Amino acid sequence: MISIIEEKKLIEQFESIVGAEYMLTHDEEAKHKYAHDETEDYVFMPDVVLKPANTEEVSQILKICNAHHIPVTPRGGGTGLSGGALPVKKGVVISMERFNKILNIDELNLQACVEPGVITEIFQEAVKEKGLFYPPDPSSRGTCFLGGNLGENAGGPKAVKYGVTRDYVLNLEVVLPTGEIIHTGANVLKNSTGYNLTQLMIGSEGTLGIITKIYFKLRPYPRKDVILCASFRSSEEACEAISKIYMAGVTPSGMEFVDRDSIEKTKKYLAEVLHTPVNMEIGEEVQAQLIIELDGNDEEVLMKEAETIVEVLDNYGSGEVLFADSKQQKDELWKLRRNVSPAVNSYSLTKSEDVVVPRGNLPALVTDIKEIGKEYGFNSVCYGHAGDGNLHINIMKENISDEDWNGKVNEGIGKIFQRVVELGGTLSGEHGIGIAKRPYMSMAVSEVNLNLMRGIKKVFDPNGILNPDKIF
Ligand code: LAC
Ligand code: ZN
Repeated sequence: MISIIEEKKLIEQFESIVGAEYMLTHDEEAKHKYAHDETEDYVFMPDVVLKPANTEEVSQILKICNAHHIPVTPRGGGTGLSGGALPVKKGVVISMERFNKILNIDELNLQACVEPGVITEIFQEAVKEKGLFYPPDPSSRGTCFLGGNLGENAGGPKAVKYGVTRDYVLNLEVVLPTGEIIHTGANVLKNSTGYNLTQLMIGSEGTLGIITKIYFKLRPYPRKDVILCASFRSSEEACEAISKIYMAGVTPSGMEFVDRDSIEKTKKYLAEVLHTPVNMEIGEEVQAQLIIELDGNDEEVLMKEAETIVEVLDNYGSGEVLFADSKQQKDELWKLRRNVSPAVNSYSLTKSEDVVVPRGNLPALVTDIKEIGKEYGFNSVCYGHAGDGNLHINIMKENISDEDWNGKVNEGIGKIFQRVVELGGTLSGEHGIGIAKRPYMSMAVSEVNLNLMRGIKKVFDPNGILNPDKIF
């Protein structure tokens, strides 16, 4: 197959749609940015990168690509951890970076309409200024795009109380692979009007259509929060305590787990790479910590809930529970937590897993991960949204040979997934399947279900042009 760059006519057509300034064809260095995301060391060079400005341009591009069977990969901020935005079959990357406008914040209805290239944190701050709250909060919020968050159904620490991205989406404008433009639903809080195409799009990893407008629902911003940081002598104890806190009747707005290695690597990274050290000492016996956040509008209620948590933690002899009461202390704890993934990635090449089990099964899982690591010869760092049962496992290459990294370690990952499924869990809680987890899909999803998914894909994308070779 010849590269589409050689097809002069096609390139001219693309140029006439987006303009020369917003098209990359031969500039390999500029295109390289669109060839990778945050997943391992994967690199897939696209033939062409197009940066359309509006829905009509996206539609025109897709019509051409559909007619000529050209693979198209939509791309957001490029922070993905499963390779969802990588052009594995070359062709066209559509970068959504110019879709960066917040179109409307509707205070009367607690809704907002935004373009998918808006950076998540910018949106969070814009609604916060109006006393409103958009809870989905991926660690990459400073650079990721809302469109990518929808593609992967991103979660983050607040999901444990407030739900994930899909819980905030009411309606979408989408360009189908054929170039048709649709709205998936209506801007209403209840909707029993046929199949839910809005929710079908979310988590579909850019394989069914390109989102060009998002209608969100919002909440009032909680006025108060309290953060506790509890230390434990083992990861198992920390994970056990989580279920006990829920059983005591408290619903934290954050319940994050970090093991000792995550804390140490992140402290080192913050100090030595980012030059913004955090002032946190951890005792020698500490093997894991929970960062627990409570939020609401009534400080007294929060303090009572915090007391309940401390009573539960007393049973674990876990030593000190730190109350982060200053803004600086709170910010430092979150900074530490948010930087675990970049810290581990800067220390070593990693394969990053994102498994999820019913939260009561986490203690068993953390024990098994260590054992599987020993058996297959790898070290891993565990951290994540443990209140959701969602554990990130970063497996580090360190001195492992390339051969083992691509062989034995993958077998070990298969073993972890097998254990996760046995424990009632599944492969990904929030990072998606992309290409990285694709080989393991059949471990968690039956052939009947996969065939349903293939059928849906065919209806939306008869020529299979949009984000090909992802998920299944
Ligand atoms: C986090 C990302 C990796 O939780 O999901 O930090
Ligand atoms: Zn996460």
